[in-house]
Amino acid sequence: MTDMIAEFKKIYGRAPEVVSRAPGRLEVLGNHTDYNEGVVLSCAVAQAAHFAMAKRAGRVCRVRDLREGVAAEFDLDRIATAAPRDWSNYIRGVVVELRKRCIEIGAFDAVLDSSVPLSAGMSSSAALEMSAAMAFRIAYGIDLPLPEWARVGQGVENNYLGLKTGLLDQFSSLYGRRNSLILSDFRTVEVLKTVPLPVGFELVVANSMVKHTLVDSEYNSRRADCESAARKLAAALPGVRTLRDVLMSELEDHAQLLTDREFRRARHVVGECERVFAAEKALARNDIGEFGALLFASHRSSQNNFENSCPELDVLVDFAVASPLCLGARLSGGGFGGITIHLVAASDVEEYTDKLRTHFQRVVQKDPQIIVCSVGDGASAEEL
Ligand code: GLA
Repeated sequence: MTDMIAEFKKIYGRAPEVVSRAPGRLEVLGNHTDYNEGVVLSCAVAQAAHFAMAKRAGRVCRVRDLREGVAAEFDLDRIATAAPRDWSNYIRGVVVELRKRCIEIGAFDAVLDSSVPLSAGMSSSAALEMSAAMAFRIAYGIDLPLPEWARVGQGVENNYLGLKTGLLDQFSSLYGRRNSLILSDFRTVEVLKTVPLPVGFELVVANSMVKHTLVDSEYNSRRADCESAARKLAAALPGVRTLRDVLMSELEDHAQLLTDREFRRARHVVGECERVFAAEKALARNDIGEFGALLFASHRSSQNNFENSCPELDVLVDFAVASPLCLGARLSGGGFGGITIHLVAASDVEEYTDKLRTHFQRVVQKDPQIIVCSVGDGASAEEL
């Protein structure tokens, strides 16, 4: 942060007024459940986006991205639509979403930096959105409830960028708690419970290094499958609004109402919600073996039901299944590439990650990025 303040002064010749940080997140269990109004176990990671800003006169905003040393300028009156492939969309979009809520912010100078790996499934974009949002909140005294700030970020993705994501990424970035998982309910949009991380274990992230080019359209089509399955089930089952409301037995009894694809998509989401509650119970009795088994089961369901895995992700998880050093592993996030998470005893991390790296290099011929994750607090901002 001190570096960033110094950079800000160097670039703009004055001090920033507000600094903020918002972390990336890990989806620990509960895959594609958020937009089905289901439940998720997630955490915020130590890697975060940082934002420093000061108000300026006029309508033109200036933002410098310290990661690449690139600058963007935009006029507040010309940001109604996103600029093609422009990183500053994540900032501009926040301004546009606030405007929809009748909140106008003025021009500003800003610098941003981020340690969240890009396109890896750790929500670098949500971290960026929430870091800007938290800075605007303080700088302009904007009084919105925290879940609404998460919706502002989701609006950037859904409306500005056309990716129909749920609330998980922004919500986890705001609500994460140090050394804990949060159990969130995306119907009531609240944290149901903070669950301490099992002591003596680490969450290891292994990146498949696959950036699926169809991610956006695949993601949106999975969401459409879930919604059409829910609509058909709702017509037969009173009280059902989304897949969140469906029990596995009800789904099986009404399988004939759905296409095979809809049935498998629904089986994934309904199964994930059940696994999240089972994981909460397993963690409460410190049954790490059962928690790990639920992570493996989630990945198999991604492979077979939701079809959002890929061969490289499977190489990582299959290695974990065969290794006595790993208690559980799964793809994490949207899927189709990105990251896997592995639950490993702290004392085994070095040996496990060495073996995992060697195996992946041999089979996939690529070097996987491996990060032993620290679980940190959610976003914050302060006036200087
Ligand atoms: C992406 C989306 C989230 C969530 C996950 C899958 O990270 O941004 O809203 O749907 O995929 O659980």
